[in-house]
Amino acid sequence: MKWLVLLGLVAFSDCIVNIPLRRVKIMRKTRSEKNMLNKFLKEHAYRLYQTSSPGSNIATHPLRNFQDMVYVGNITIGTPPQEFQVVFDTGSSDLWVPSVFCTSPNCSSHVMFRHNESSTYQPIRQIFSIEYGRGRMKGVVGRDTVRIGDLVSTDQPLGLSMEQSGFEGMPFDGVLGLNYPNLSFTGGIPIFDNLKNHGAISEPVFAFYLSNKPEGSVVMFGGVDKSYYQGAVNWVPLIKVGDWRVHMDRISMEGQIVACYSGCEALVDTGESSIIGPRRLVNKILRFLGAKPRGSEHYVSCSAVNTLPSIDFTINGINYPVPAQAYTIKDSSGVCYINLEADPESTSVETWILGDVFLRLYFSVFDRGNDRIGLAQAV
Ligand SMILES: *[C@@H]1O[C@H](CO)[C@@H](O)[C@H](O)[C@H]1NC(C)=O
Ligand SMILES: *[C@@H]1O[C@H](CO)[C@@H](O)[C@H](O)[C@H]1NC(C)=O
Ligand SMILES: *[C@@H]1O[C@H](CO)[C@@H](O)[C@H](O)[C@H]1NC(C)=O
Ligand SMILES: *[C@@H]1O[C@H](CO)[C@@H](O)[C@H](O)[C@H]1NC(C)=O
Repeated sequence: MKWLVLLGLVAFSDCIVNIPLRRVKIMRKTRSEKNMLNKFLKEHAYRLYQTSSPGSNIATHPLRNFQDMVYVGNITIGTPPQEFQVVFDTGSSDLWVPSVFCTSPNCSSHVMFRHNESSTYQPIRQIFSIEYGRGRMKGVVGRDTVRIGDLVSTDQPLGLSMEQSGFEGMPFDGVLGLNYPNLSFTGGIPIFDNLKNHGAISEPVFAFYLSNKPEGSVVMFGGVDKSYYQGAVNWVPLIKVGDWRVHMDRISMEGQIVACYSGCEALVDTGESSIIGPRRLVNKILRFLGAKPRGSEHYVSCSAVNTLPSIDFTINGINYPVPAQAYTIKDSSGVCYINLEADPESTSVETWILGDVFLRLYFSVFDRGNDRIGLAQAV
């Protein structure tokens, strides 16, 4: 009996693979850069389409901007392994890294994958491109062995960039998508699916703990480490299998509904640093807060932060408050900016993106086995 219990414990700790993430800062954009970004946002809503030319897919991802803060972790690709720093992103489905196919200076500040130095590399040669809120990349698909900690994904399709813009100076090399295969544009099986299909993970689950501190954040695969949250995990079914999107009941402040009046949709997106909503409704919240415009940003006096109400997101009957300390950022001039972003494009369904501002407060579990998201109070 004792032996069985011990075995169970060993199996449990063996099954979860913890990957440390580092919180890294991206310099705040100047006003004109910010405007360029808004142009990007306007041009590319959350929509995906295929070009008429066969073998060439174009992806558009929702309002990604990677500004302020991102969480990056290390992976290796190839044999012998080459190391990359990537954003683990639940808003997209592909893995891509810069490569020696990219000859422009836009790639040279990053680690570039040298396929010619990997004995396990196999070309696929399909061309694809992805557009993000503030960047775009075009690449070719190949396959190779990818390692995330102790997890090994062999013959993993991945994108090798040939051209990229908007990622210069970013504190990461590439992106590792953890969304469903539906949103893949390399045409290949996403890494989590590949690991799952090969039985490399005990449970088809991964989870994020995002810390306020530079170190201590983690993405875990194959199970949930209970030491990162307190209380129960509240489960929310996905609206549709194929995207990390859930129904939200309402958004309120001081008991008054300010957005999402008759319900709306929320994307749970670890690759997005902020919380994003439709412009009209974000403006309403900013007015409620008495925030003043400066450039394309809104700010409040830092001395007012302690008196501002929380923004309460209600999901599946449970209230997830985001206090003012979490949705404001103090800048070097001593002003507190509101960390909410307006999506200028109005979509037919009211959609909010719950990024890292939300996910630092709430430990998040992504359950591919039951097509649901779990949220719990982060420790
Ligand atoms: C991740 O990669 C960076 C850059 O190569 C390195 O400084 C860091 O030590 C690596 N971290 C881990 C946990 O391997
Ligand atoms: C691989 O290709 C890169 C870029 O073309 C080159 O710099 C590097 O020397 C090549 N490596 C080998 C082993 O040929
Ligand atoms: C490099 O990036 C800049 C801005 O991000 C972009 O305008 C330019 O077209 C890119 N160059 C190439 C060769 O992709
Ligand atoms: C994703 O793909 C599955 C299987 O093809 C399909 O049933 C589902 O409706 C798709 N989901 C979305 C959001 O497109």
